[in-house]
Amino acid sequence: MMSIGTVISTQEGPSVSGFSFVINDDGPLAKQGQFVTLKTPEGIMVARICNIFKSNRYFQRAESVREYEKSGKKMSEIFPVERWEYLIGEAKPLAVFSDSLIQRPCFPPSPGDTVEIADGEMLSRFIGLDQEKGMDIGKINFHDTPVKLNLTKLLQKHLAILSISGGGKSYLTSVIIEELLDRKPEEGQIATVIIDTHGEYIGFAEDEKYRNKVSIITGEDFKIGVPRLSVSLISHFVPDLTHVQERELRRIFKNAREAFKGRAYDLNDIIRMIAEDEKVKSSTKDILITLLSHLRGTGFFGVSDNPSLDTLAKQGHVTIIDVSDITSLRKRQMLVSYLGRKLFDARTEDRIPPFVFIVEEAHNFAPEGVKREAALSKGIIEKIAREGRKFNSSLCLISQRPIQLSTTALSQCNSHIILRVTNPYDLDHIGRSSEGLTRDVLNTISSLRVGEALIVGEAVNYPIFVKVRERKSKKSERGIPLEEDAVRYHKNKEKKNQDARSFM
Ligand SMILES: Nc1ncnc2c1ncn2[C@@H]1O[C@H](COP(=O)(O)OP(=O)(O)O)[C@@H](O)[C@H]1O
Ligand SMILES: [Mg+2]
Repeated sequence: MMSIGTVISTQEGPSVSGFSFVINDDGPLAKQGQFVTLKTPEGIMVARICNIFKSNRYFQRAESVREYEKSGKKMSEIFPVERWEYLIGEAKPLAVFSDSLIQRPCFPPSPGDTVEIADGEMLSRFIGLDQEKGMDIGKINFHDTPVKLNLTKLLQKHLAILSISGGGKSYLTSVIIEELLDRKPEEGQIATVIIDTHGEYIGFAEDEKYRNKVSIITGEDFKIGVPRLSVSLISHFVPDLTHVQERELRRIFKNAREAFKGRAYDLNDIIRMIAEDEKVKSSTKDILITLLSHLRGTGFFGVSDNPSLDTLAKQGHVTIIDVSDITSLRKRQMLVSYLGRKLFDARTEDRIPPFVFIVEEAHNFAPEGVKREAALSKGIIEKIAREGRKFNSSLCLISQRPIQLSTTALSQCNSHIILRVTNPYDLDHIGRSSEGLTRDVLNTISSLRVGEALIVGEAVNYPIFVKVRERKSKKSERGIPLEEDAVRYHKNKEKKNQDARSFM
């Protein structure tokens, strides 16, 4: 145990809600945000340092400082002022451990009590970390304790990862994916599917260690198999289908299934069948052909699903859906909607293992204040958010625009990992949507550095700040820093010029 100070008596305390302590000169430096413990008659009290300030009685009276310094000398030349400078810590009691019970503190510590830095075991118990099987995210800020989050607590009731752009969301997500891939079967492996909007995760497929646990599907690879396509899905993609149009489509699709009897067919075949059908009115025919041609134009429809269900969701495996080659947001939403439904439906029938569906730029797929028909993937994301936990279908929503993310979906994310956020509106929104955030914790969020995060909610018993660990997997080549990219471009250009000169 490392002692850092002694509880002092002040006008307000020590009380149940707060106490001050004078910090040892020689002790390890105390930091705001650090957890400390004290032995009290009730048990061991855990508290958090919420403020540190300095005090020096020589400087307490403005008029004396001014009078003394009128002589032209500094106070420090007249008095031994340094010896009288104190560091005072203010801490907030959080819990008391007695035997194996954790309770709210209901009795203050005493003046004179020794304040110690909380040790790893105590912190793990207090925060509810799973040092044995948990997912290693990093270390608690100012402590050496690994933050190993319990898989169920982190993901079962969904996770949101929020920060400004460049705050480290994707980096952290890679760390989480590594942890998911590194789990052994006896520790419980889930399937991971990620919507990769920038092709940032494809590095996993080039990494020795993870290569054989990764599948990559690009927007071009992605296909919806027409033989198993339902008309209700078509009317989801094309919301203004009339009853008549829907009825005719159903008939044609049924005909197609009978005509092809298990042989492959695609939208071209369906379009041809509509064109040749004698029962459809010609006006309906034209509309249906136009609609289906539009769908065909997306390039999303083929003779069978890709990825197949087996590739999409495998235990201890990640499927990266790299949609960076799809420029249209609506098409991206179509894809997310299709995969989300497919995962959720298969999971409710227990045809695939428990999974986590990670959605980058979630505000684009489940935007707040936009109708469901206008954002095709919003419905399914909200559905998984509301109902997924019963079936162990987890969501991990990543966003740099929390205000624009569906409140229905965000409010169902019981764990939040928040990295640097600077916009006051976003901060406010986060304060309202994350439970148990005090003002001083919230204020710290805007001063977080890249790679520092706040974890709140279900995953932890008490909000903690974390230094995210270094990733083990290879970073994707894409997304090089601006400066580096400019230098690379310059070098290439110089080289080309040289080559050209030596050629002439
Ligand atoms: N924990 C970390 N340790 C080291 N570098 C990090 C860490 N987190 C983020 N970075 C770096 O910061 C930059 C932005 O991170 P990124 O995850 O892409 O941000 P975001 O996804 O929030 O936009 C990247 O270059 C990344 O390598
Ligand atoms: Mg990112």
